[in-house]
Amino acid sequence: MEKLVVVGQGYVGLPLAMRAVDAGFTVVGLDSDELRVKELLAGHAGIEDVADHVLQAALDSWRYTATTDPALCSGFDVAVIDVPTPLAEGVPDLGHVRSAAATLAPWLRPGATVVLESTTYPGTTEELVAPLLEQGSGLVAGPDFHLGYSPERLDPGNAEWHFHTIPKVVSGIDPASLQAVGAFFDRLVERTVPVSSPRVAELTKLLENTFRHVNVALVNELAMFAADLGVDVWEAIGAASTKPFGYMPFTPGPGVGGHCLPIDPSYLSWTVRRRLGRSFRFVELANDINDHMPDYVVGRVVLALNRGGRPVAGSTVLVLGVAYKRNTGDARTAPGLAIAESLARLGADVRVADPHVPLVDVPFTMVEANLAEITEADAVVLVTDHDAFDYTMIGREGRLVLDTRNRLSGPNVEKL
Ligand SMILES: NC(=O)c1ccc[n+]([C@@H]2O[C@H](COP(=O)([O-])OP(=O)(O)OC[C@H]3O[C@@H](n4cnc5c(N)ncnc54)[C@H](O)[C@@H]3O)[C@@H](O)[C@H]2O)c1
Repeated sequence: MEKLVVVGQGYVGLPLAMRAVDAGFTVVGLDSDELRVKELLAGHAGIEDVADHVLQAALDSWRYTATTDPALCSGFDVAVIDVPTPLAEGVPDLGHVRSAAATLAPWLRPGATVVLESTTYPGTTEELVAPLLEQGSGLVAGPDFHLGYSPERLDPGNAEWHFHTIPKVVSGIDPASLQAVGAFFDRLVERTVPVSSPRVAELTKLLENTFRHVNVALVNELAMFAADLGVDVWEAIGAASTKPFGYMPFTPGPGVGGHCLPIDPSYLSWTVRRRLGRSFRFVELANDINDHMPDYVVGRVVLALNRGGRPVAGSTVLVLGVAYKRNTGDARTAPGLAIAESLARLGADVRVADPHVPLVDVPFTMVEANLAEITEADAVVLVTDHDAFDYTMIGREGRLVLDTRNRLSGPNVEKL
């Protein structure tokens, strides 16, 4: 039976590991975080895209285990790297990728395949991962082992598109590597899309996320102008969306969050600046607009309270949703937290309701979005439009409601 190692058992690595168990691999989920490994071994997946019972079945099959021990990598046929690629003071931080590659290297055997999936700038696979694997193994990438890059396109919480139905872009550092990487993912997904080099595959991912980032910024800026012009931007977007060609709808919101839009485009602009000495103006402008949105939302709350003769200091403000995305529990770099923090700094008594986010992730009083909380709040801000919220009740009962997602209607509802 073929052995797969997946380095990093988070949002991306765990679904891959589960799919591979299904496809017949024996899978080692290697993670440096002891708590995460304990949680997994206890059958708690901790992410929306993998149900606990699926994880438990994988554990029970004895073809999946989670570990912090690199020795369990011994004898792997394929290894996939799914570790974080954050920014550190605006600069790509590839420390996790470096350490993952260094961890795998001693266990690399001739004929094995290594795939990087973490989002990163063009050149990472060939310039950073290949040398680390070579140094630690004494083997040569290409002649001795296969190496490639395949971006992950998972969309946590998306009920329509799943791991195996999302086409997977695959690449290799040479034809044999492309063949090996493609053959591996052909066993896991319905369709693979081969490209000519890891650099193209790396850029493909950054292009996809930059496209989204820029378009979200466009409608965010439009929303701010439309509000001042007294035009309903949501109605205009709905009408524009009826055009069957040449238009793709994006919706405004309270700002971007998570680990993709606030980060990935900056990997691209950083590379352009470093290699070409040029600024990627679209990315910088989009960062500027999207980063400003939480402040804009706070400003709108302050203005709305002021119209009713109330200062924000001393007012009770209920923030609905701090996950960065609907129906998910991921509050990393989410605009809801930034909005709550700014309101608290202005002296508001901030409460937060989010049925998906664990209490420990939120340094505010967490409440339920029930009738008492809605009616008691001087202002309610809908930040994340989870399906679990009762929109009819919120729209009807809220004394002042700022709706950043166009989900509400009611006498006191104001839209972004
Ligand atoms: N989450 C998404 O929706 C998504 C979608 C597409 C691509 N990506 C990209 O995939 C990559 C992983 O993202 P994620 O959301 O799964 O991150 P995550 O934080 O959910 O999981 C990463 C895991 O890697 C572990 N880890 C870190 N360094 C390690 C090391 N050296 N050895 C072993 N384990 C290590 C961490 O403990 C963590 O459990 C990032 O590059 C991200 O940009 C994420």
